[in-house]
Amino acid sequence: MCGIVALIGSREAAPQLLEGLRQLEYRGYDSAGIATVEALPNGGGAPEGRLHCLKAEGKLLNLTARWEEQGAAGHCGIGHTRWATHGKPEERNAHPHLDGSGQLAVVQNGIIENHRSLRELLQAEGVMFRSDTDTEVIPHLLARRLDALEKEGHLIDAALLLRAVQEVLPLLHGAYALAVVWAKAPGALVVARRQAPLLIGLGEGEFLCASDTPALAGFTRTILPMEDGEVALLTPLGIELYNATGERVQRNPSLLTGTEHVADKRSFRHFMLKEIHEQPETAALWVARHLPEGALVALPLDEAVYCGVERIQILACGTSRHAAQVGAYLLEQVAGVPTTVFYASEFRYAPPPLSPHMLTIGVTQSGETADTLAALTMEQQRRQRHGDPAYAPRMLGITNRPESSLGRLVSHILDIGAGIEVGVAATKTFMGQLLAFYGLALAFAERRAAAGLRQPGLPDHGRLMALVAQLRELPALLQALVEDHDRRCAELAHLFTDTQDVIFLGRGINYPIAMEGALKLKEISYIHAEGYPAGEMKHGPIALLDARVPVVSIAVPGTVFDKVLSNAQEAKARDARLIGVAPACPDTELFDTLLPLPIVDELLSPLLTVIPMQLLSYHIAAHRGLDVDQPRNLAKSVTVE
Ligand code: M6R
Repeated sequence: MCGIVALIGSREAAPQLLEGLRQLEYRGYDSAGIATVEALPNGGGAPEGRLHCLKAEGKLLNLTARWEEQGAAGHCGIGHTRWATHGKPEERNAHPHLDGSGQLAVVQNGIIENHRSLRELLQAEGVMFRSDTDTEVIPHLLARRLDALEKEGHLIDAALLLRAVQEVLPLLHGAYALAVVWAKAPGALVVARRQAPLLIGLGEGEFLCASDTPALAGFTRTILPMEDGEVALLTPLGIELYNATGERVQRNPSLLTGTEHVADKRSFRHFMLKEIHEQPETAALWVARHLPEGALVALPLDEAVYCGVERIQILACGTSRHAAQVGAYLLEQVAGVPTTVFYASEFRYAPPPLSPHMLTIGVTQSGETADTLAALTMEQQRRQRHGDPAYAPRMLGITNRPESSLGRLVSHILDIGAGIEVGVAATKTFMGQLLAFYGLALAFAERRAAAGLRQPGLPDHGRLMALVAQLRELPALLQALVEDHDRRCAELAHLFTDTQDVIFLGRGINYPIAMEGALKLKEISYIHAEGYPAGEMKHGPIALLDARVPVVSIAVPGTVFDKVLSNAQEAKARDARLIGVAPACPDTELFDTLLPLPIVDELLSPLLTVIPMQLLSYHIAAHRGLDVDQPRNLAKSVTVE
């Protein structure tokens, strides 16, 4: 949600800022802007500069066109791509925001929670605001502080800008990352973070700062992730890093490895389609890493994660929550551990009573979802306060970004290793999250069996071994399925040209997949869709059905196969057009259209049934000519509550 890029060095900043923003555009795309500082000849006096600021509503190409017309000179600058929180997506609300003199510019990700009171205070002192954003208070506060420091006789230089930022930050409440440039200090860039990501990239004689790795990957592989509360002064000569109390900090940079940080669409029409096609690879990597020959499963987790766990609670949002629901099914039905899934956004305000020996799992592909982080933090704090060791926090994060805020918050991380996902609609990261839960369920099942805790009715060792054997076949199964269903769903998409509502039905372990199918369709095609447990249809939603409402029904052999088919019959009797995600067999001839599946153990079926959900949504949206990768109103990672 929103992307920040900032640069200082010896080259023209604007082209690199725009390229960095292009890499981050998937994080927010309702408006964008840059500000650069051009150093002016000063005849031996204090350095002086001119600030250039360009903004444009809509996609980044509008900003690029503006820059091509007007230019923005300077070797130092900041840029931002926005997902609106405060104020409509209009040019005047786009970042950077300037102070009254137009000499100081700020970009910010996050929310300044006390912006209203700060705005009132500033307005009472005569400050005129030009935007509706929370961010605009920052340049005004900084300008006032700089004015005061100048009047006290301080030298106007980079250090003064740093000092002003350090003095203003304590006035700001909330979670944010920001970057500031000032025309009076053309060789200085100040950046700061509090509970929102910011990384510094170290180039040759230049430094780039960004809110996410894709903006850095094409620039440098040497990075310095900033920690909470840190402020940095960047000049062409180096970095000065300070902690929240203003002490100088020294830390070694780290290296970005692999190609997973580079966003490249290859020959696919959209990132989403490419990422759907990458799922066999996601599975192959996972199998290679975690299903070694001769063992049930090998996860890189401390025994402390498993030891003595009596219950599990999982906190997540959106697609991650659907993966968590499949996970809960597996943890209960395979490992016998009572598991509850919560909407992270609800958990914080209505937490359940504390139970002892609880493992809390946060699932977030980005590792930056504010709702999930806030819920995990709250849970961690209330358990720390409790004092009884049985209630001590034991937190595991499942993420695609181990270097994220989640990675710093929890003590154990399971990296799903899916590589960068650019499409706003999560696909391959969902696959990675599902696989993480298969691994966890197997690992718990193994340990509980060894401890003599296996409950009757749960899969025995033989079935677990058979599951693992089928999981090893998963990459090949997925490869065939993705190719086949890509073609089938493309052919099916034209049937949805005038569709306004779609119902997705599933039961048991495939109920979360029905919800995921509905979420995917809503997100990218803007068609209203509902995911329902098939048995609930007759308790109300069946009233919605007629010939104009297609029903997608997930029916896989196992505990609820016949039940789901009966529920599908009920829909057919109301003239609904039935699309079956099911194996081809006489039982499934009732479907008007079949998206056929190979038969696997029912417990593994979500790994397959999700593929037609993703491809159907993709092709319906693409057929409607919609912007699949950057759907309206959404952002890849939702870093505000
Ligand atoms: O980064 P997270 O996994 O925490 O994101 C959670 C949701 O915002 C996310 O899954 C959202 O629902 C996606 N756009 C789904 O496609």
